[in-house]
Amino acid sequence: MTDDELLARADAVAERAYAPYSTFLVGAAALTRDGRVIEGVNVENAAYPLGVCAERAALARAVVEGARPGEIEAIAITASPCGGCRQWLHEFGLDRVTYRRGTGEVVTRTPTEILPDSFDL
Ligand code: THU
Repeated sequence: MTDDELLARADAVAERAYAPYSTFLVGAAALTRDGRVIEGVNVENAAYPLGVCAERAALARAVVEGARPGEIEAIAITASPCGGCRQWLHEFGLDRVTYRRGTGEVVTRTPTEILPDSFDL
């Protein structure tokens, strides 16, 4: 699965986002090292801070399905990942993060490139 194909999966799943407050639909698709694609969408709540980002939903779902940090090769996200999600992407040790910038440009970065000096316990 190429990064472009992964982004196509993220674009398709974004339709299922639950984002009635922002109306900003986000999709994410994570690729495990053993070849599984695990999708996520943003899920908002009337108590706004409780909403969950698409990439965090995908990573949480990957954990439910048995994946551990180091076992996810790549993720594609239909939007630029927020700061908190960048810390999640760092912790999960992905090789590549592909996302669509606000300008529409699609880029692929490492977690370290998008979150220098990230926090580790
Ligand atoms: N959002 C994501 O799902 N991922 C990001 O990294 C950026 C922001 C969602 C959260 C919220 O539901 C909506 O986009 C508007 O901020």
